[in-house]
Amino acid sequence: MNFYDNFKSRLKSKKIAVGVIGMGYVGLPLAILAAKKNFRVFGYERDSHRFKMLNKRKSYFTNIPSNSLNVFSKKTKFFKRFSNISECDILIICLPTPLKKNRPDLSHIVSSINLIAPKLRKGQLLILESTSYPGTTREKICEKLNSKFNLGKDFFVGFSSERINPGINDKKIDKIPKVVSGYSHKCLNLCVKFYKNLFNHIVKARSLEHAEFSKLLENIYRSVNIGFINEMKFIADRFNLDIFEILSLSNTKPYGFSRFDPGPGVGGHCIPIDPQYLYWKSVEKGFNPEFIKLSAKINLDVTKFIYSKIVSRTKKIKKNKSNIKILILGIAYKKNLDDIRASAPVRLIDYLLDKKFKFVNYSDPFISSCEFTQNKNKNSVKLSSQILKKTDIVILATDHDKFNYNFIKKYSRFIIDCRGKYNLDKKIVRG
Ligand SMILES: NC(=O)c1ccc[n+]([C@@H]2O[C@H](COP(=O)([O-])OP(=O)(O)OC[C@H]3O[C@@H](n4cnc5c(N)ncnc54)[C@H](O)[C@@H]3O)[C@@H](O)[C@H]2O)c1
Repeated sequence: MNFYDNFKSRLKSKKIAVGVIGMGYVGLPLAILAAKKNFRVFGYERDSHRFKMLNKRKSYFTNIPSNSLNVFSKKTKFFKRFSNISECDILIICLPTPLKKNRPDLSHIVSSINLIAPKLRKGQLLILESTSYPGTTREKICEKLNSKFNLGKDFFVGFSSERINPGINDKKIDKIPKVVSGYSHKCLNLCVKFYKNLFNHIVKARSLEHAEFSKLLENIYRSVNIGFINEMKFIADRFNLDIFEILSLSNTKPYGFSRFDPGPGVGGHCIPIDPQYLYWKSVEKGFNPEFIKLSAKINLDVTKFIYSKIVSRTKKIKKNKSNIKILILGIAYKKNLDDIRASAPVRLIDYLLDKKFKFVNYSDPFISSCEFTQNKNKNSVKLSSQILKKTDIVILATDHDKFNYNFIKKYSRFIIDCRGKYNLDKKIVRG
């Protein structure tokens, strides 16, 4: 049988089932998109809560409303295990790629591949969408499947990076150019033909490794530029100048300048993690990257910068660690999201608690409670004029749209603004 031609003709008639492995921030929107384009979707999710919610067609992300899941017809099925994986024509892996002791942790991908490999059949297309270092698809997937299949002839493998920006572009991911790559020319062609059904613009990469590297480059570019602009913030502060004012001036240059804003430090599943993937692999290849290391350090140093502002205010109003009242606004790593993975405001609160500050609270409309260092659990404080009036230092860490900024300013005594929401004056400093 000619598996390649067979796949193409089945794809043309959309008689194929798309299996999405890992229904998280990446997998769920992708599954929704595939269902919208009339593909039969199988979603694989091992987390019991998410699995139950999927079966009730309910969303577990604030940035994805439950009615988006109405697109899942009766044909859409969800599974906790991989027993029926052979029924899928396409499998897309959207599993987490975290760090473990500062090293890439590919255990989710490796263990899933080990589980599904015996069940895979000829004629399937398997695509990795998780972010990882160049060489991952070849080393962890192709090499494992090489003994069972004639890759590129009777089984197809690709890598395609995911560019979703949760809370920002989730509703229009189909408009974002999609980078795709394949183990062989035929693998690439099948990936292109499939993704053309979902995305408006497809960008072909020369190899799996070029595509994998390009994803890391995109995120390292952000990490380095955010680190750079955070350093500019430290310097501007020494001059008593406002970094946001400087930025808005520089940003009028019509060429050669791309704006990056400073903040409380980086967070989430990508920016703090992906650079470490390339760093680690690069060191393994005998090259020590400097930019990656430096930007990671500076982005972490913002915590100490904000801390120095807290200490100076504490001294100025003649208070101390045991009586100063601090309120952090926004602890999600990014605005309008409920995601606290590697969140900089959470890091700041942990830091303050470790330094034995007694009254540290937070308010976040998306996160009702959170566990901090030393197993300290805190509930989000409801913002009121009374709370703000009683607080000595308000720190605007994450600028959710739900905050009433005029109200906050009116009733706060002193604000450390990490997001450039307010103009500087007697009671506003940058953090
Ligand atoms: N979140 C983003 O904004 C973003 C953007 C681009 C790329 N990425 C990359 O995409 C990948 C996935 O990220 P994410 O943010 O969607 O992660 P996530 O943690 O939100 O989702 C992963 C899902 O996989 C599930 N899972 C874990 N092991 C499983 C298994 N063995 N079987 C079935 N399900 C399993 C988890 O329960 C979870 O629901 C990562 O490599 C990440 O770096 C993420």
